[in-house]
Amino acid sequence: MQIDILTVVPELLESPFSHSIMKRAREKGLLVVNTHNLRKWAINKHGQVDDYQYGGGAGMVMMCEPIANAIDELQKERKYDEIIYMTPDGKNFNQGTANQLSLKENILIICGHYKGIDQRIRDQYVTMEISIGDFVLSGGELAAAIVVDAIGRLLPGVLNDETSALFDSFQDNLLAPPVYTRPEIWRNIKVPDILLSGDPKKIEDWRYDQALNRTQTKRPDLWEKHENS
Ligand code: ADE
Repeated sequence: MQIDILTVVPELLESPFSHSIMKRAREKGLLVVNTHNLRKWAINKHGQVDDYQYGGGAGMVMMCEPIANAIDELQKERKYDEIIYMTPDGKNFNQGTANQLSLKENILIICGHYKGIDQRIRDQYVTMEISIGDFVLSGGELAAAIVVDAIGRLLPGVLNDETSALFDSFQDNLLAPPVYTRPEIWRNIKVPDILLSGDPKKIEDWRYDQALNRTQTKRPDLWEKHENS
């Protein structure tokens, strides 16, 4: 999968894909992430990509021309399955969307800044608008990094244990069960006996029970979805 990211702050996207699982995904060639500095398509030699908003009001708006030119040029190289705009007024991102996006070949993500991008770009080019939650970030970059991470780890071959993503929280609208590691007794607190029983069926049932209990108590909203799915 290839993910292109259009941004005015490419530096913000250097570290998130250079470590741990995302690094491995890239090294294995399973995930290609390219950041493109929007200023390359600026309208003048001052690097201008934004302007005041019509109708007045505080905050700058990212202009149509640089973004359109950038997308047109990138589209000459490949056809995008989705052109995503990161915005707090987009659709709330969740595991279901991550799963869907992980099946795509080429994705372009546009990171907004300031007051966001001119509505005409949203109307003409954008095929999907994603919010990572009901709060406002100073730009779409960190949100894009989260989306790419959530997608990237789902690509076949990225995780060591191929099946492990299936048992993540939110697959099946359930939270993941608690986990323990050595030592067996820490500050007088013992690991649940069942996990030491060596009985895979009992352990699986226990984990499922715990996932149900956790979801019911911690996330009644998710529990309702699980019950109805
Ligand atoms: N840009 C600014 N805030 C955002 C959010 N909550 N989600 C996605 N992109 C954003």
